[in-house]
Amino acid sequence: MLVLGIETSCDETAAAIVEAGTRVLSDVVVSQIDVHKEFGGVVPELASRMHVEAISIVIEQAFNKAGIAPKDVDGIGVTRGPGLIGSLLVGISAAKGIAFALNRPLCGVNHLHGHLFAAFLERQDIKFPFVGLVVSGGHTSLYHVRGPLDISLIGKTRDDAAGEAFDKVAKLLGLGYPGGKVIEDQARGVEAGTIRFPRALMKKDNLDFSFSGLKTAVMRQAEGMFGVSKRNDIPGSFHPVASPGEGDEINEGIRVIAAAFQDAVTDVLVAKAFNAAEMRRVDKLIVCGGVAANGALREKMAAEGKRWGIESVFPSARLCTDNAAMIAARAETLLAAGMVDGLDFGAMSRW
Ligand code: KG4
Ligand code: ZN
Repeated sequence: MLVLGIETSCDETAAAIVEAGTRVLSDVVVSQIDVHKEFGGVVPELASRMHVEAISIVIEQAFNKAGIAPKDVDGIGVTRGPGLIGSLLVGISAAKGIAFALNRPLCGVNHLHGHLFAAFLERQDIKFPFVGLVVSGGHTSLYHVRGPLDISLIGKTRDDAAGEAFDKVAKLLGLGYPGGKVIEDQARGVEAGTIRFPRALMKKDNLDFSFSGLKTAVMRQAEGMFGVSKRNDIPGSFHPVASPGEGDEINEGIRVIAAAFQDAVTDVLVAKAFNAAEMRRVDKLIVCGGVAANGALREKMAAEGKRWGIESVFPSARLCTDNAAMIAARAETLLAAGMVDGLDFGAMSRW
């Protein structure tokens, strides 16, 4: 099947054409990040307006790059949720219009299931069952995936998502947005030393996550090290203003906090993923979503995997962040099973 995938759940407008759920013919992503950066996070109203401006061009590019005409597609998949309601509706409306005009089947896709199916775009040998860990800016969820139509949520965050914690900590340390990559850069090669932040809900049979206490612990640590001086140009940040001669010391302090924070988040993600794999008796973990781009997480997962005899699969960085190829891949399995939606379905901010 040739499937057109459309994704507009957050701040990326994306369209892709995927064949047989595995072969990417085109994968167009237009990111709005530079606009949202100025506000220190995604502004929903701005996001939906920018999706409206970009969506037709992005879909046209997806067809052009794939070298196919719209009438060649066999079906359409669009992200139905979870995500920002106004943003989702832009993609859903476009998808319905195309489905109606071409008279092709359409299905609404769960964005998080889409993240899991990104793995099949690079690895066709992956067999069910497996445990999937989706770690992004909006979600931290563990899934037991027994088959394409048998996916159970077995753990999720009770407050902040892991990526959200990276973003919030980066903001309060004055490192900018988005926070994942800047924290990783600051932490590279740095020992956390004597700082050890809390790891929450670590009982072996508890597969839920909590990161808001960690964020508060980071704030208290920074306050203790730097005082509570605020930098006026970064709302919500108390990044210390370095006085002459103190700059290096402060910068080193920020690096050590970043390393200790990253250590805590990655320890929790690794421990819970492997506990879940053991509890569900699977030998494969698929780790996806924006935070899966983190090098420290990848290294820890690989090291722990050797100990447990469990392989962890990470899609490449491009497929870990939001894209429409993963939505098309997921849609292929739904459409093949006859799970077609009518033209009257709405967006789901939560799923
Ligand atoms: O999946 P994604 O692109 O968008 C959604 O949230 O759906 O994930 C974005 C999140 C952001 O919170 C960002 O800070 C985080 O992924 N992220 C990282 C890294 N790169 C992106 N977190 C840790 N380390 C990274 N290298
Ligand atoms: Zn996502």
